[in-house]
Amino acid sequence: MSVASIYAPVQSELAQVEAALQEVARSDIPQVRKMLEHVLSASGKRLRPTIALLSGRFAEHKPEALVPLAASIELLHTATLVHDDVIDESDTRRGRDTTNSKHHNAAAVMLGDYMFAHAADLICRTERIEVVKLFSKTLMAMASGELTQDMSAYEYGQDTMQYFNRIAGKTASLFATSAEGGALVANSPAEWTAALLDYGENVGMAFQIVDDILDFEGDAEEMGKPTGSDLMEGTITLPALLLMERSPDDNPVKRFFGDGDNKDEHLAQAISMIQNSDILQESYRVAQDFSSRAVAALEILPATPDRTALSDIAEHVLARRS
Ligand code: IPE
Ligand code: IPE
Ligand code: MG
Ligand code: MG
Repeated sequence: MSVASIYAPVQSELAQVEAALQEVARSDIPQVRKMLEHVLSASGKRLRPTIALLSGRFAEHKPEALVPLAASIELLHTATLVHDDVIDESDTRRGRDTTNSKHHNAAAVMLGDYMFAHAADLICRTERIEVVKLFSKTLMAMASGELTQDMSAYEYGQDTMQYFNRIAGKTASLFATSAEGGALVANSPAEWTAALLDYGENVGMAFQIVDDILDFEGDAEEMGKPTGSDLMEGTITLPALLLMERSPDDNPVKRFFGDGDNKDEHLAQAISMIQNSDILQESYRVAQDFSSRAVAALEILPATPDRTALSDIAEHVLARRS
């Protein structure tokens, strides 16, 4: 499977999504326009709009509603990244300077808000109240996930269930909405809509777990941030949870979060224990399980090239490096 084959069935509609995003960048205020162009023309993977467009092709294909849906979802996603980079104090994203580093935090917060507002405007263009409802519900789930992550930073004693709930909110909910939204716009039968929702949720979980693995395993250069940055910021992800589970009484994560000295040493030790054990492999197995569930959910859909592309996405998220 090549990455290009994933996008192939929806190439022309993806081009329309890009055009819709460029349209958003055409603000009347020249400085805002520059900032939006900088953020929106950077090459993200466009995974969520691709999932939305593919999911809208099993029943009544309605590009006039699908394109605004897909554009709205990508815009919402990009707005959350603009805010996420403020929260994480990140300097680069998608190979470019972040808005917070190029300008300042306040500008990035307001730009993100402006993008959220545009995303809401685009979702209304689907003229489907169920889709608008889905959009607002998702926005709440994402904000709750991010808030929970922030509130529980440096808090020892979290478990896997809490981690799964957190990533379900902050990441999987938007993947689920991409797939379910596409199905709704196409007036798909209820079983197909439910199957696509199930698919999206599971792909999203696999996607975030891999993201959390890459934070430990990835090349700092390729990822554009230091190895172990999640843990450094106090965010406990699956690899750290597995390390804590293996030695519950004494481990470097506990010491890093504790009141003692030598914080840097404890952090470095935690990272190296995670890297030099089978913890990352074990984490991949968990991601693999979610990915397999996503593929299985597609079984009741007609076997079309669109279904193959969705299934390829579920496999591709396991193999991605950035
Ligand atoms: C990054 O998402 C944020 C996470 C949910 C981990 P992507 O990796 O899809 O970001 P882009 O859109 O390709 O930049
Ligand atoms: C994704 O989580 C953020 C959102 C869902 C908004 P991360 O914080 O892991 O994303 P990266 O690693 O910064 O891309
Ligand atoms: Mg982040
Ligand atoms: Mg991450």
